[in-house]
Amino acid sequence: MKVLVIGKGGREHAIVHAVSRSKRVNKLYAAPGNPGMQALAECVNISDSDVDGLLQFAKENAIDLTIVGPEATLALGIVDAFQKEGCKIFGPTKDATQVESSKDFSKQIMMKYGIPTASYATFDNYDAAVNYVERQGLPIVIKEDGLKAGKGVSVAFTMDDALQALDIAFSIEHNKVVIEEYLEGFEFSLICFVHEDLVLPMEIAQDHKCAYDEDKGPNTGGMGVYSPVRTITKEMVDEAMNNIMVPMAKAMVKEGHPFTGFLYGGLMLTKNGVKTIEFNARLGDPEAEVILPRLKTDFLDVIENIMNHQKSELEWDEDVTLGVVMASTGYPASSTKGKKITGLDQVDGYVFHMGTKQQEEQIVTDGGRVLLVLAKAKTLEEAYEKAYADVHKIHCDALFYRNDIGKKDM
Ligand code: AMP
Ligand code: GLY
Repeated sequence: MKVLVIGKGGREHAIVHAVSRSKRVNKLYAAPGNPGMQALAECVNISDSDVDGLLQFAKENAIDLTIVGPEATLALGIVDAFQKEGCKIFGPTKDATQVESSKDFSKQIMMKYGIPTASYATFDNYDAAVNYVERQGLPIVIKEDGLKAGKGVSVAFTMDDALQALDIAFSIEHNKVVIEEYLEGFEFSLICFVHEDLVLPMEIAQDHKCAYDEDKGPNTGGMGVYSPVRTITKEMVDEAMNNIMVPMAKAMVKEGHPFTGFLYGGLMLTKNGVKTIEFNARLGDPEAEVILPRLKTDFLDVIENIMNHQKSELEWDEDVTLGVVMASTGYPASSTKGKKITGLDQVDGYVFHMGTKQQEEQIVTDGGRVLLVLAKAKTLEEAYEKAYADVHKIHCDALFYRNDIGKKDM
């Protein structure tokens, strides 16, 4: 097969890595790709937002299957555009992508179908929102509607924080704001291969969303991750599948928004059972970087089968994978670009590139989250030691990382 992977981040690097291990692929392209993928795929210089350019490339090169990484590309309607031209593509339509792009849309479906989630209300008016926060009390969670790369959410423990979040959210014209109940518990990610009502769960991963150690600092796209997750038992996964993931996929079909692609459940194990924090219409980043390397079943077989409405038995490596994100100083508020990175060839594990660029012979930083350093081992403790040993071999004067990835489960 000729396969095209769309995107340029760590998640897409992990997809390319998984596709490259398939026995079915004989030509692999990434658009636009990144320097880390170059050993595995031919990178073509087409932006992941250039839907027309990507479609033209797929047609001219007789691509058999296109896999989309980023939510922004899905929200542009790339799947609709490819399907219209008879080009095979794995991902949700623009309409089904609303499960992620509109918090209000997914909340309404969850409420209608009794899918466990935090109670909430939606506002387009500042005063009404403030009034609601005052009545509900603290802590409370304030979310801007729309795609925010993990950054439009504030968990407010003080009234000052809540008011500041509402000020920011309502400073954007026509913004809708979802205000929801604070859920206390253990957070985890359950991502499924989905085609309409057929839902195949992957292994669990735990992301670390806060920027700094001990879950301090602002929310980010994710600063580190590991898989599997000891705290989450098979019974809890079954509960999440039966009460959340399968009912959501079925509800999407019933409501006229059938979903194909990766459905990501951001879930919370609370004292009242597993509840939904959010759905995403794609693989998680950094979750993909620890989950896909553990998949022993041929990744392309799974996708081809599910698109034909056939199940696959997923086999997983029992080893633990742990990934530490190295991000630009200042992330998530700001990021530096063009800073030299050295030592990448010294690591024993594997490095996924999240935001890098090749500048002459040198790899340089090019975004907020820059690298994910992956280690694989028999135990979480050992994976932790190996990952940080590699992190210490990588040098760049404009990167920081958390020191406690996986610690909560040790
Ligand atoms: P989201 O973009 O909805 O995933 O929110 C980003 C992060 O904010 C989540 O991963 C959680 O850590 C936190 N969060 C979101 N909603 C809630 C909630 N209702 N209760 C507690 N924490 C939340
Ligand atoms: N790691 C969180 C996300 O991909 O949304």
